Amino acid sequence: MCGIVGYIGHRNAYDIVIKGLKLLEYRGYDSAGITLLDNKTYLYKKKGKVSDLEESIKDLPKGGTLGMGHTRWATHGEPNDTNAHPHQSQNGKFIVVHNGIIENYADLKKTLLEKDYSFKSETDTEVFANLLEYFYLQGNMSAEETVRMALSRVVGAYGLVILCADEQDKIITARKGSPLVIGIGQGEYFVASDATPIVEYTKSVIYLNDDDVAVISRDGLQLKTIKSSQSIQPHIQEVDLNIGELDKGGYDHFMLKEIHEQPRSIADTFRGRILPDCSDISLGGLHEVWPKINNARRIIIVACGTSWHAGLVGEYLFEEYARIPVEVEYGSEFRYRNPIIYPDDVVIAISQSGETADTLAAIRIAKAQGALVLGICNVVGSSIPRETHAGVYTHAGPEIGVASTKAFTAQVTILTMMALKLASNRGTISQDKYRMAIKELTIIPEKIERALGSNEYIQYVSEKLKDSTNSIYLGRGYLYPVALEGALKLKEISYIHAEGYPAAEMKHGPIALIDEQMPVVVVATKDSSYEKIVSNIQEVKARKGIIIAIVTEGDTIIKNMAQYVIEVPETAEFLSPILSVIPLQLLSYYIAVMRGSNVDQPRNLAKSVTVE
Ligand code: M6R
Repeated sequence: MCGIVGYIGHRNAYDIVIKGLKLLEYRGYDSAGITLLDNKTYLYKKKGKVSDLEESIKDLPKGGTLGMGHTRWATHGEPNDTNAHPHQSQNGKFIVVHNGIIENYADLKKTLLEKDYSFKSETDTEVFANLLEYFYLQGNMSAEETVRMALSRVVGAYGLVILCADEQDKIITARKGSPLVIGIGQGEYFVASDATPIVEYTKSVIYLNDDDVAVISRDGLQLKTIKSSQSIQPHIQEVDLNIGELDKGGYDHFMLKEIHEQPRSIADTFRGRILPDCSDISLGGLHEVWPKINNARRIIIVACGTSWHAGLVGEYLFEEYARIPVEVEYGSEFRYRNPIIYPDDVVIAISQSGETADTLAAIRIAKAQGALVLGICNVVGSSIPRETHAGVYTHAGPEIGVASTKAFTAQVTILTMMALKLASNRGTISQDKYRMAIKELTIIPEKIERALGSNEYIQYVSEKLKDSTNSIYLGRGYLYPVALEGALKLKEISYIHAEGYPAAEMKHGPIALIDEQMPVVVVATKDSSYEKIVSNIQEVKARKGIIIAIVTEGDTIIKNMAQYVIEVPETAEFLSPILSVIPLQLLSYYIAVMRGSNVDQPRNLAKSVTVE
């Protein structure tokens, strides 16, 4: 949610900041802005993409070796030039970029209005810039002291980068709830919302913790906290991310690249975690906590969006194999409903970004009530892995497309490994079955490769469906979460209304929607519910719905009933979500492209939702 880049060093700051903003554009893309300090302050902002900003200032001065920029996902105030960041205080003393929400901004604004401050924008960030200036002009304080004092009055979440016109050799940055990473170069420093804009220049990074305030000059960095002026020792780490992973690799969109990467990303997810003879699974991050997981009274999975759908697959897996009751919760609901959590519950938070605010809040509640909290995350070093007791990284590589694809299949792969290992530990699966299941998992990448082979046919089907205004997705058992995920993919990038349902629920209401205009996508591969879902397809056919079925290779029964049939290779039932979601990802991708949507940056969305 919003991308921030800052630079101080010896190179041209503009070049680094603008390039970094383009890499972070997936976090928000409704407006962008940049500030450069070069004896005086240059401040440029523009509604739209980073490229619109670039174009609008192409003939303006862009010198200086200190600067910062922001690409926005609006929270307070509509996307326009004025609400775009950076925001400058009334007398130009402070310039601020901000990710997050200042919850008490209305109270602060009221106080500042009484002190004769006026505001140009509708943002909470401008309020903070003016608060800084107000304190600064009051007393004999440095910019750093002013920032720490102002932050002690702020309620909310923030990742902030702050410049002071009187201290042109410094960047001040602070974090609470919204991630910030500092990259350390030779006589130069980089600040960003995540490491992607930094790795081209340095792999040495510091992830700020909540309440940290860092004061960065070309000569060094001082880390303090909001409450204390005492310097603390920063924890410098090596970031494991390659610049090569951050381009489209010849594909038209990141989403398409990421869909096609899945044979490799899934292999990366289980690599080193499965013994070569497929006799066992070893998840290093869980070694010490298995005894507690083995004896869990209940597993609660918390997540949002696509990760929540992966969690639903997890429910089927854990209950079927490990025989432990599972509840799957939206982070946003869990956090506010005073949930009952027992000390022998195990809570699993699933998140691609590791920064989703609602999931993080749910984790904190579960921890406070004594449960063991585990994370399944993709972004190494992000907040969720740092706040959970233990966990497993998905290792799917950076996911840039806003619509999550390879993260979903990687999350389901981890959940599958966890469920099988837990079942083996608890003796709820025979060793023969355990080995066979592991073996089957290891050949999933080849099967995904084959599923991707339907690319051309899926384009043909997409052409037929691209003008629809509604659609229904159906699945049963393990394939019900896949139906939900297929529907989410379609609506978020093509803006076609789509609903996912358990197929048998259709007759309790949604069936009323079916007529000859209604596409009904049925995920109906050969599994234990196959005959049942064939009956559901008959019900759709009787009402003249347009049936698009995802079936197992060689299926002839559904072929005779459906208008369009997309085949995937045969696999074990518990692995069917990983395979059958592939055609649904491609279907939504091609429909969106044919409708002219911006697939990687769909309207109103952002890759990581760090506000509640
Ligand atoms: O980073 P997270 O996995 O926590 O994100 C959760 C959701 O915001 C995310 O899955 C969202 O639903 C995607 N846009 C779906 O494609």
